[in-house]
Amino acid sequence: MSEAYTIAVVPGDGIGPEVVREGLRVLERVASIEGFRVATTTYPFGAEHYLKTKEIFPESAFSEVRQQRAILLGAIGDPRIEVGLLEFGIIAKMRFELDLFVNLRPVKLYAEHLCPLKDKKPEDVDFIVVRENTEDAYAGMRGFFKKGTPDEVATQEIIFTRKGTERVIRYAFELARRRGRGKKLTLVDKANAVRAMDLWARVFEEVGREYPDIARDHAYIDAACMWCVKNPEWFDTVVTSNMFGDILTDLAAMIQGGLGIAASGNIHPGQVSLFEPIHGSAPKYAGKNVANPLATIMAVSMMLDYLGETRGAARIEETVAALLRSKRIPSLGSDSGLSTAEIGNLVIESLEQAKVPA
Ligand SMILES: NC(=O)c1ccc[n+]([C@@H]2O[C@H](COP(=O)([O-])OP(=O)(O)OC[C@H]3O[C@@H](n4cnc5c(N)ncnc54)[C@H](O)[C@@H]3O)[C@@H](O)[C@H]2O)c1
Repeated sequence: MSEAYTIAVVPGDGIGPEVVREGLRVLERVASIEGFRVATTTYPFGAEHYLKTKEIFPESAFSEVRQQRAILLGAIGDPRIEVGLLEFGIIAKMRFELDLFVNLRPVKLYAEHLCPLKDKKPEDVDFIVVRENTEDAYAGMRGFFKKGTPDEVATQEIIFTRKGTERVIRYAFELARRRGRGKKLTLVDKANAVRAMDLWARVFEEVGREYPDIARDHAYIDAACMWCVKNPEWFDTVVTSNMFGDILTDLAAMIQGGLGIAASGNIHPGQVSLFEPIHGSAPKYAGKNVANPLATIMAVSMMLDYLGETRGAARIEETVAALLRSKRIPSLGSDSGLSTAEIGNLVIESLEQAKVPA
């Protein structure tokens, strides 16, 4: 039998452990149907662990995580702890130190009734956003001068490097080609006001000349938000910077039905990569068994696709899509009338019947 895929699991805070539990049950079932093996190691990092030990993410554990094939993350964040402390110490640490330079966000509507836009159908909402994941304002070059006084100055640098811009744009061109859908790549920037983004425009043109089969398209971020709501069918593959991608993909989650379905991959091709639901720890629902685990289950699907288990990935995606189309899972929020575990059960029971390509 083939070697097991080693997966580091960080359930984290709030609803994280509940949704990750369902994601792992689905993963095990798919593995047994498709005949591959997984070996998971669970790490306790998050608010409870921090409060007990004052430890955020020790280097010994980090060097173990680094050696796994992939990471599955629930959510990090707890109202008892200073804003950003754990988010930076755990999520940003992995993104930056593992150099996960692509944040991949498929935006797909699985059932028409989930879309808040009038007359938009699943074929109208099917694009993918490639967000740069290691630079921009998130690089952490910031400071306060005369803090707390009337003369206070606060700064945070937006940084883009040639290398960082080029590698993510190249990844997006390759992806647009692999998707083979609209064969179009839209660059979303704000080069008219944030002049540093001229770098993005130049690199996009330069790299784009190597991909004559992919149409080059452009939108400023403000207009891209408008198009996302008005004509989402115009997008195929989108590439953008860290902050614009952060904002655009939450808007995009709403047109695919809500945070309860939106998943992402934090990727460095060929190296350990991280998969997670895009929602946070939703503290008000923690421990109540009402959170929707589908975003985490879709993150498991993305993780399998990344690992090369494309049949397993497609099996999960098709199962979730069929359950949503049939309204057996009627909504994506906490109001579906189904508990977290019941949604997990429905997915697990239906996996075997999913129509997947041979
Ligand atoms: N990647 C991450 O771990 C991540 C991402 C975003 C926010 N956070 C952190 O999470 C905490 C809470 O942040 P927030 O309230 O802004 O965002 P959130 O995504 O946790 O919750 C926003 C609202 O969305 C709904 N929701 C989210 N996920 C849901 C699910 N699976 N099922 C049903 N409803 C769901 C809930 O109504 C919730 O109140 C903060 O500490 C924040 O820093 C972490």
